[in-house]
Amino acid sequence: KAKRKAVIAGNWKMNKTAGEAAELISALIPEVAGADCEVVICTPFTDLPVAVSKTAGSNISVGAQNVHFEKSGAFTGEISADMLTELGVEYVIIGHSERRQYFAETDETVNKRLKAALAAGLKVILCVGESLAQREQGVTSELVALQTRIALGGVSAAELKNVIIAYEPIWAIGTGLTATAEQAEEVCKTIREVIAALYGKAEAEAFTIQYGGSMNAKNADELLAMPDVDGGLIGGASLKAPDFAAIVKAAS
Ligand code: G3P
Repeated sequence: KAKRKAVIAGNWKMNKTAGEAAELISALIPEVAGADCEVVICTPFTDLPVAVSKTAGSNISVGAQNVHFEKSGAFTGEISADMLTELGVEYVIIGHSERRQYFAETDETVNKRLKAALAAGLKVILCVGESLAQREQGVTSELVALQTRIALGGVSAAELKNVIIAYEPIWAIGTGLTATAEQAEEVCKTIREVIAALYGKAEAEAFTIQYGGSMNAKNADELLAMPDVDGGLIGGASLKAPDFAAIVKAAS
């Protein structure tokens, strides 16, 4: 397996008030200290200030779960990339399937958000993945390749260094149905081939690709052992310190 540093990121989704976030982070810091992988927590916007201050001096980086593509203006309820960087936020998730499904995000708006985030100096966790119907139709590879190509439109090789991709099959998210290690590997490999075609082999070899979808302490080892799976984007299991720490350990 190529020596890429794994990235384990928690996507808290709409969970934890700021007070609860402070508690979870306090529990997490000693559990993941010294991990030999990158550890990220992506919290609700309202938890970001406490997350940044609480994680200072630890090996945990902080991310948001979305960002708008305009710099400022009349976009009620939205948050800009500069608002995040000024807080000390380092990462942002873009294009999560829940955003695509419930908040009408498209490949085109995902591309705009990604470019705005990179321009502001954020690191991006770009999510791609197919629905169950799409998998059953046999279009998974084509769909994920297209999502990847559109999202990365206009992104330079230098900017790509601040992007990682999370492959999240929609049917595996929050369902307890994990993709098999082989299914995860097949699509992550496809994504790496797309990166190679767009940016070259060396860039593709260095590129981090995560799996997400009901990843937990039990199945992490097997998934992370696959040659093209370089980490995980964790939902439910990131909300409990021991569960998340066990996945971090599996990646270290
Ligand atoms: O972004 C992480 C995600 O969608 C997976 O969620 O709860 O299935 O681990 P979960």
